Amino acid sequence: MKTQRLTENQTETAGEILRNGGIVAIPTETVYGLAANALDEEAVLKIFEAKGRPQDNPLIVHISDFNKLYDLVKYVPDTAKALAAAFWPGPLTMIMERADIVPKSTSAGLSTVAIRMPSDETARKIIDAAGVPLAAPSANLSGKPSPTTAQHVLFDMDGKIDAVVMGKECSVGVESTVITLCTNPPRLLRPGKITPEEIEKVIGKIDIDDAVLGKLKEGEKASSPGMKYKHYSPKAEVTIVKGSFDGFLKLIKTKNPNETTAIVFSGEEKDMPCKCLVLGDEDDSESQAHNLFLLLRECDELGAKEVYVRCPKQSGVGLAVMNRLLRAAAFRITEV
Ligand code: TXA
Ligand code: MG
Repeated sequence: MKTQRLTENQTETAGEILRNGGIVAIPTETVYGLAANALDEEAVLKIFEAKGRPQDNPLIVHISDFNKLYDLVKYVPDTAKALAAAFWPGPLTMIMERADIVPKSTSAGLSTVAIRMPSDETARKIIDAAGVPLAAPSANLSGKPSPTTAQHVLFDMDGKIDAVVMGKECSVGVESTVITLCTNPPRLLRPGKITPEEIEKVIGKIDIDDAVLGKLKEGEKASSPGMKYKHYSPKAEVTIVKGSFDGFLKLIKTKNPNETTAIVFSGEEKDMPCKCLVLGDEDDSESQAHNLFLLLRECDELGAKEVYVRCPKQSGVGLAVMNRLLRAAAFRITEV
């Protein structure tokens, strides 16, 4: 299949391809999404095929108008209204009871459905032009880091999808915060730019799912199926290093510099005896979130065999950075 390159201004063309059952990668403020008509079972199945995504992993449905929510869910809880007023359009996904109109393939057979209204202008224009809600997982091959540039989408998807909208680099850089409103209290399933503290200011106490920072035990059921898979991984083996910078440096000096890449905080790179990438300022979780997937892909471009990463702060947006990094590292942590 020939994958068309569309400019950010060709939102009408993108909408037409989507309306006709095609699949199109689109920019959003978080990461690029691979979109299809969420109500068209056959179109949605093409997404799973192109990504190599397990079919038990449900998709997020994207809308550009709050009122469309009423078509997609059984009822809209007050918590959803309050959170939408505070954070939509924006990087927050809410899980509610699924209406029958949403096909099984979109929500992987679950009785619930995940909905989000992106803030990115191009994404919203494409949803409007399509005239249907769009199911869109991140536009990477399953298991790879989510793409935050159109080039990264093409790297994974060229020849497998109908079109890519060649937009800008994504501003947030990690996927949306996912919260289920089907439990009492609501439970955070995936951390993102919208933090638990910000959510609690609007709807009061929420739970944080154990899988956010922990590893599922053998046979344990994931509340969010996506959390059970290996994720965000470059080809190299990634290890998170907890402890001081001095300890980190000592560890790096024991490694073969030709096979090792270090990911460090700003200012630390000058001392590194191997290839080195900068995650961002130690105290700036937002820029770390913005950079993380770009760097994980760069590790592959550098041909890294082993990657050692300074352990990020876990407060605020740092929780999202740590959540993604833990998966990229398959939960490998070492203390120095
Ligand atoms: O920022 C984002 O959310 C991006 C952009 C494209 O919008 N999309 C994205 O989709 O990250 P995806 O498919 O890569 O991640 C969706 C996550 C998965 O972990 C999935 O298991 C979970 O949301 N999820 C979706 N529907 C769910 C449901 N009904 N119940 C529990 N978890 C659900
Ligand atoms: Mg994904």
